[in-house]
Amino acid sequence: MPQAEYSPEELAAGEALFRSAWVFVLSAPSLEFVPPMQGAEVAFAGRSNVGKSSLINALVRHHGLARTSNTPGRTQELNYFRSPDRDVFLVDMPGYGFAQAPKEKVRAWGELVRGFLLGRQNLGRVFLLIDARHGIKKVDLEIMELLDTCAVSYQAVLTKADKIKPHELAQVIRETEAALAKHPAAYPFLIATSSETGLGIEDLRAAIAQVAEQHRV
Ligand code: GTP
Ligand code: MG
Repeated sequence: MPQAEYSPEELAAGEALFRSAWVFVLSAPSLEFVPPMQGAEVAFAGRSNVGKSSLINALVRHHGLARTSNTPGRTQELNYFRSPDRDVFLVDMPGYGFAQAPKEKVRAWGELVRGFLLGRQNLGRVFLLIDARHGIKKVDLEIMELLDTCAVSYQAVLTKADKIKPHELAQVIRETEAALAKHPAAYPFLIATSSETGLGIEDLRAAIAQVAEQHRV
């Protein structure tokens, strides 16, 4: 299963989608506060500290639009960002698998993440972020199984690729691909990224433009 490769046209569509400044829409602490279902949404899910908010900032070229932190557990709500031109939304999700967090918070975030992933009909794709240094963990597998069961399409994204050597990255790509092949709802191509160096950001923009196109927004 090779890494995603996008045509010049697909890359141009991705570039166009992120050319003008994206805006923050709202922060939903629970499901009753999410916006009405309209347009196409893509969600960024993954373990705490994997780099979800950083990746969104890199995509929209606005550092600080999504709040990031060295400390896991920064994002505690569903944060919505919108294209200024179209009903295309990025959803920054709370992380999961943060063992040090208070039990009550872990439970609440888990409920929010699961409830959202299963209940959103206009959710075009979930980007499942995996730290390139660590690969797929047990908690990721649980989310993958949940998405498989509910047939929610998802694509694996390796983050922090700048933190490992090229041969290590090649290895984790191979291993992650092998694991993904067992999951029916997983998109067949993963994208290796770095919010620091910009690796894979253009590809991710192209992937999001594809989703927007599929949903004709
Ligand atoms: P939660 O909101 O707590 O779930 O975390 P998150 O997944 O949103 O992670 P966040 O974007 O806040 O990043 C966590 C830490 O990783 C921050 O210190 C970032 O600067 C760092 N980081 C994120 N992406 C990258 C990357 O591509 N490369 C490097 N070197 N560091 C990164
Ligand atoms: Mg975050």
